[in-house]
Amino acid sequence: MDISNWPFPLIGLSPMDGLTDEPFRLVQTQVAKPDIIFTEFVSAEGLAHNAVKLYDHLLYSDIERPVIGQLFGKDPDSFYQAALILCFLGFDGIDINMGCPARTVTQHGGGAALIDKPEVAKKIVVAVKAAIADFATQKRNLNDLHLKEKTLAVIERNNKYSHYSSPSTGPQTPPTLSVKTRLGTTHSVVESWIEFLCQQQPDFLTLHGRTLKQGYAGLADWPAIRTAAQIAHQAHIRLLGNGDIKNYADGLAASREYGTDGALIGRGALGNPWVFLREPHLVTSREKFDTMYLHAQISRFTFPSRRFDYLRQQFLFYAASLPHAKKLRQNLVRVSSLDQLCALEAEFIS
Ligand SMILES: Cc1cc2nc3c(=O)[nH]c(=O)nc-3n(C[C@H](O)[C@H](O)[C@H](O)COP(=O)(O)O)c2cc1C
Repeated sequence: MDISNWPFPLIGLSPMDGLTDEPFRLVQTQVAKPDIIFTEFVSAEGLAHNAVKLYDHLLYSDIERPVIGQLFGKDPDSFYQAALILCFLGFDGIDINMGCPARTVTQHGGGAALIDKPEVAKKIVVAVKAAIADFATQKRNLNDLHLKEKTLAVIERNNKYSHYSSPSTGPQTPPTLSVKTRLGTTHSVVESWIEFLCQQQPDFLTLHGRTLKQGYAGLADWPAIRTAAQIAHQAHIRLLGNGDIKNYADGLAASREYGTDGALIGRGALGNPWVFLREPHLVTSREKFDTMYLHAQISRFTFPSRRFDYLRQQFLFYAASLPHAKKLRQNLVRVSSLDQLCALEAEFIS
């Protein structure tokens, strides 16, 4: 995909595992469409090994485009297969996670642990590039991956959902390749790391201004993001900043001040899709309730067999900024159905 006509500086939705699923992204798109959208991360090894449940995380709708699928893992061969699958699912971009601090990911050598393993990181980028090239030139098709029948069926399901079918002849539009990363693991190595990543020639980078060790503590180091953007620009690579951005205007201001090509918003968008509005907007409790209810309805429709409980954390985010959030919380964590959620309407908007 040619990113030269993307609206830089752009403000996008950051990937958040367990949160930015298809219902979340649909609600986000309805309220205020981000310039780009990332899926939650998905295990490359899992996709390569026919883990069909992962395909729920990869559901997207055409109106979310440009939509970027994110992969994590440590095995280049699995990345090749997973990236090829994302190509055949019609994603506009493939992002490699080199920033996740979760021990479940880093102890296996994935996420931010890759910052200390540049040779593996390089092999992963090369593998994803090869998959994108093989897709674009029709050198490989899905059958070459020898996936199980159940996997091919779920790919078909996803494609029907997204109204996507890859053209059967001629060259395909290749998705972008990008990397989302952090400043370093124990301390910042931002200069050498960004320089190294740029040598791999991704279409763009996203930098969260914290180290792995910091997790989410402290403030994101935007001056370090500025340095990274300068290095990336010397290599003609776009760089998005990330960390603590509150809303669209804040993202644009940070992009200008620190010389990035845009920013991603993560936590600021939880229970607050209005952060992507281009103009400031005072959100009413009525709007919050209606949007939360819509979110729940879409979730029931998209994932009817999922337990209702998984939505409770989303409800808490919608309620978080209300003056009576504490009292509401006690009731929201017990909600087990749409009817029960509806019964809380008066209390929510009071
Ligand atoms: C619950 C949670 C899940 C996350 N999952 C992912 C993920 O799947 N992939 C990723 O690259 N970053 C993930 N992140 C990091 C965010 O995308 C983002 O980089 C980080 O929250 C900083 O941005 P913010 O201050 O705007 O939230 C996650 C963050 C949170 C809080």
